[in-house]
This record gives sequence, structure tokens and C-alpha cells, in this order.
Amino acid sequence: LHIIHIAAEMAPVAKVGGLGDVVSGLSKSLQKRGHLVEIVLPKYDCMEYDRIRDLRALDVMVESYFAGQLFKNKIWVGTVEGLPVYLIEPHHPENFFWRGQFYGEHDDFKRFSFFSRAALELLLQAGKKPDIIHCHDWQTAFVAPLYWDLYAPKGFNSARICFTCHNFEYQGTAPASELASCGLDVHQLNRPDRMQDNSAHDRVNPVKGGIVFSNIVTTVSPTYAQEVRTAEGGRGLHSTLNSHSKKFIGILNGIDTDAWNPATDIFLKVQYTANDLQGKAENKKAVQRHLQLSSADIKKPLVGCITRLVPQKGVHLIRHAIYRTLELGGQFILLGSSPVPHIQREFEGIANHFQNHDHIRLILKYDESLSHSIYAASDMFIIPSIFEPCGLTQMIAMRYGSIPIARKTGGLNDSVFDIDDDTIPLEFRNGFTFLTPDEQGVNNALERAFNLYKNNPDIWKQLVQKDMNIDFSWDSSAAHYEELYSKSVARARAAIR
Ligand code: ADP
Ligand code: GLC
Repeated sequence: LHIIHIAAEMAPVAKVGGLGDVVSGLSKSLQKRGHLVEIVLPKYDCMEYDRIRDLRALDVMVESYFAGQLFKNKIWVGTVEGLPVYLIEPHHPENFFWRGQFYGEHDDFKRFSFFSRAALELLLQAGKKPDIIHCHDWQTAFVAPLYWDLYAPKGFNSARICFTCHNFEYQGTAPASELASCGLDVHQLNRPDRMQDNSAHDRVNPVKGGIVFSNIVTTVSPTYAQEVRTAEGGRGLHSTLNSHSKKFIGILNGIDTDAWNPATDIFLKVQYTANDLQGKAENKKAVQRHLQLSSADIKKPLVGCITRLVPQKGVHLIRHAIYRTLELGGQFILLGSSPVPHIQREFEGIANHFQNHDHIRLILKYDESLSHSIYAASDMFIIPSIFEPCGLTQMIAMRYGSIPIARKTGGLNDSVFDIDDDTIPLEFRNGFTFLTPDEQGVNNALERAFNLYKNNPDIWKQLVQKDMNIDFSWDSSAAHYEELYSKSVARARAAIR
């Protein structure tokens, strides 16, 4: 199959969170399975350019429509870890992708509706005939209605559209009139069965457009797929998902097991494997030294947490876990940053409070290299999310032998299984979970983890080895996507015949 992803993120060159990991991890796995996979991204000023190989601009510009005018786009091609990428650089006076950050700008709706249209224009003008166009999250959900309204009729009509919503919290709604800029027909689309927001009737909802106009709609875990079909979890879109339930499915993400591999990880002080955990202990010491934490007692459990600090992640429970860890005699390292000013300020306050403490360290920034070291150094890893579509950090933590302590929600419920839960076969139990998103829930799971770590080092070691050997690769999930793609393509071909 020829598969083209149109996305706002791709790890490691343009990553904010898990979306970036998924776009590259899924693509690599599909490529390994023999498919032709290409990725179209905006050309941001803040990308990691040194990780793009053979980057060059094409001679021919692609012209795309926006707000009554045609704009030229310079097209850059290159490869990222073996994947062909196209970067679109619009010649637009508002410098859409020259802002020093990927998103979070006041005009994101404009920036990404522009990009979605330019991306389709690129595919058309480059003569691409993909079988599948796969768009992700609200930023590129515009691709689905744009494709059927404007591009399929231009003879470029063999593609099926797959839309993955990685988080229904972010829907990108805007006043209906704004939709016209990218050439979509507002009167046709601002209707309850199309893109009209389910609660604000003068607004359009790109995620809803993605659901209504795509052939395949996925989200990132089976449990989250159930949660979002309820009034409580669907953030206003449950009724839309229920009316399109036949094409909607939850597929658990994998992780890129080449990028996340303690045996080869260049960011680590010492590489290690499940059979030789001495290296893990050395990483713990190295990180403790690097962050000026006490390394006097290697038996003190080190709890890690790496996250965007947003309400979804249970920020108040993270704060609680820091203090509770200290009371229990452990160490805690938080690596995170927040787009929400008052949360960032609150954690800066905690970081300052502990700045000379030898058991607690908060590092409030995005730091890829340090993230690898913390996965390797920590004994436990806490993810007390209020909701979590999939979550990748619990899987990465396990791959590095750090035992997850997670709230049972969304993808955490599909990947972390409590070691004391008799209803789960023993071989699947891999961590500590709690159900109620409150301090008692955190305490219970954290205390059980500390008890096992301190009182039964042999059983703890077995758990570490078992978790490191779990297969979290993309293999089975990519096979699932491949099956969905193939069936959809076959259905379309049958309909033409
Ligand atoms: P989300 O996409 O909701 O942020 P995920 O668990 O799916 O959550 O993915 C988070 C990804 O971002 C992981 O790869 C994690 O290691 C990374 N990450 C999160 N915060 C930071 C940070 N401050 N520095 C480096 N990497 C981070
Ligand atoms: C979103 C979700 C996260 C998921 C990631 C990748 O950012 O918050 O749970 O793992 O997308 O799908």
C-alpha cells in the first residue's frame, strides 16, 4: 500500500508529546512491512533540522488557496530515520510556521487549515496516488472534508481517508465562518450531521469533521474508545462517535523499540539488558550525581515521572506523589513542563522549595536526552492520569525496567496490570494500579510498590526483567492498521467495479 501521513508532529524532529512518537513509530513499522510510507509536515522554524537527512528544496513551488488568494509553498524533501518526509513552507505574510513553537498560537485554526489544504494540493500536484491518507488530531482533520469536497472530484479519487484522534480533549473548534478560508463550504458543513459543534451551533468542529468524513476512524486504545462513546468521556462527541460506530475502533499504540532500547540507547551512561541489570544501577547513580541527589543508598527507590503538566495527567496527584515519596523514604525526579502558566508557576514553586534537597528534583523543561536517562535510572514510574487516551511513558518505563504505578484509565488500563489483581493471569501482571483518582489511590499503589521493592528484592528483580521483556513494539498494532487500510481499499475497489 502507499500510505501518506499528514500530521502536525513527528518524532524526533517535531515532537510535543506522544503524537510525534506515534507518527514515526507506526510509519517505520508499516514501512518494515513493505508499504510505501511518506509523511507531510509543516516546515517549522523550531524543528530539529540536524536530524533530517538530505534536506533539499524542490524547484517547483506548490500553489494553494487560502482566504480568496493563492499562495506559493516551498516544498522541502528529506528523510527522517529512513522515512521520506515532505515539509511545507508557506510564503504567507503571517509566517504560519515561523513562531518558535509547534502549536498553541492564537491562530492555530488558520495555520493548520492552511496546512491541510496545502498538503492535499502537494499530493495532487506531485501526482501522488496514495491508497491511504492518514490524518491525525484536529490539526489535520480538515484533510477529510477537504479531500471529499475538493480533491476527490479532481480525479485524485482513489485514496481512503483514515483519521486518528489521539485525544478528544482537543477539538480545535472555531466560529463557523473561519472554515471558509481553506475553501470549504460553510453552509454545507455547518450542519448537525457534518461539522457543526454539538454544543455551540455557531462553531465548527474539525474533529467532528474527521469522524464524519473519514473512511476509518481510530483512537489510541480499546478502553479509551469505549470511554469516549459515553457522555462523560466523549467531550461532546459521544453521539457523533455512536452514529459512526461501525468505522470507529481503538487500537493500542506501540513504541518505537529501536529508539527506546536500553541495550543500544546512546543517551545512557551505560547500556544494559534484562539479563545484566548492573548497568541500570549505574545509570541510577549517574543521574543522581548529575542532578545532585544523594547516591549514598542505592536501595532507596527512585520514582520517575516524565510528562506534560496538564490537568489530564493528574497534576495534583503528581504533586501529592512527590511529598508521599519523600515520607516513604524514596527519591523523586519529575521532568515536565506546562503550557498552562499557573501550573508551570506552581511547579516552579515546588522546584524552588526542593532546590537543595537531596531526594527530590523537578526539572521543568522538555529534554529528550534527560528523559532517556530518567527512564533508565528510575525504579518506579508514576502516571496518575485523570484520563489517558493511550499513554506511552508507561510502556517506555517498562522497557527500561522501571515499574509503572498507574491509574486504571484509557490505554493505561490496557497496558498496566496490577501484580495483586487475581482476576488477571499472573503472566500479564506488570505493575501497580489504582482506580480512584485521589490521594488514597496514589498512596495505596505507591506503598505497595515500596513494600515490594524494600522487602522482596528478588521478586522485584524478576518483575523488572519480566517488564523489560514485554513486547511493546508496533508490530501487532501496525498489522491491525494494515488490515483496516486493506479492507477499506478493497471495499472501495469493489464499489467501483
Ligand atoms: P502525551 O502525548 O499526552 O503527552 P504520551 O505518554 O503519549 O503523552 O507521550 C509523551 C511523550 O513525550 C513520551 O515520549 C515522553 O517521554 C515525552 N515527554 C513528555 N514530557 C517530556 C519532557 N519534559 N521532556 C522530554 N520528553 C518528554
Ligand atoms: C495523546 C494522548 C496520549 C497518547 C498520545 C499518542 O497525546 O494524550 O495518551 O499516548 O496522544 O497517541
